[in-house]
Amino acid sequence: MEVVIVPDARSGGELIAEAMAQLLRRKPDALLGVATGSTPLPVYEALAEAVRSGAVDASRARIAQLDEYVGLPADHPESYRSVLRREVLEPLGVGMDAFMGPDGTAEDVQGACRAYDSALAEAGGVDLQLLGIGTDGHIGFNEPCSSLASRTRIKTLTQQTRVDNARFFDGDIEQVPHHVITQGIGTILEARHLVLLATGEGKADAVAATVEGPVAAVCPASALQLHPHATVVVDEAAASKLKLADYFRHTYANKPDWQGI
Ligand code: GLP
Repeated sequence: MEVVIVPDARSGGELIAEAMAQLLRRKPDALLGVATGSTPLPVYEALAEAVRSGAVDASRARIAQLDEYVGLPADHPESYRSVLRREVLEPLGVGMDAFMGPDGTAEDVQGACRAYDSALAEAGGVDLQLLGIGTDGHIGFNEPCSSLASRTRIKTLTQQTRVDNARFFDGDIEQVPHHVITQGIGTILEARHLVLLATGEGKADAVAATVEGPVAAVCPASALQLHPHATVVVDEAAASKLKLADYFRHTYANKPDWQGI
């Protein structure tokens, strides 16, 4: 696992946007897996800026969704489909025809989950999956004690995650859905390169458990330790509980191996 400690969220965003740009230069129709939440926004801003300046062409990029609320209409402003359209697709100039995600409105939710797993495989798999992390160590919406081999499926959110996400619903937890569809941990691990971004002190415990704890379902992000090419980008605050912080600074500072093994 590469652990890159950056001074702040903005530089983390720029670093990861550069990884995505390098990928798109090598493979213009790369399938980028994207995450929601506040953390990835600096990545999307930096990548959109690179597109605007002509440093990279994203016109053939394909975008895959990580997770979705169950039961929110697709055009609800906080459905992850809407959020990603607003924050990623439109700024990059990528059309919805190049977007894939699970159907959170399907009557047959389990069928929709299986269909999404199949669609990802048929699309050739995700080239680079960007991940955030929940305060409880979740990735996507794989809450603690999710199977490390899980596939895309329906999950029930913990109270903590609903509290954390209430800020997107006018601070009203009652509006936060209880159920979600998420790529499973096994599904996520099939992406060719995993890049997790964590910023702020509130993520420091989860980052320490992810990077230096045992691989354990109680911290779903620790499954990244099983992946041959996982990069964890953290700001100083999120890195503050890493015992090996100095080693990581010395080894990986601004030199992640984006090309992989
Ligand atoms: C949600 C998303 C995750 C995201 C997490 C953290 O639960 N499903 O993909 O990583 O929020 O969000 P934030 O980056 O806003 O802290």
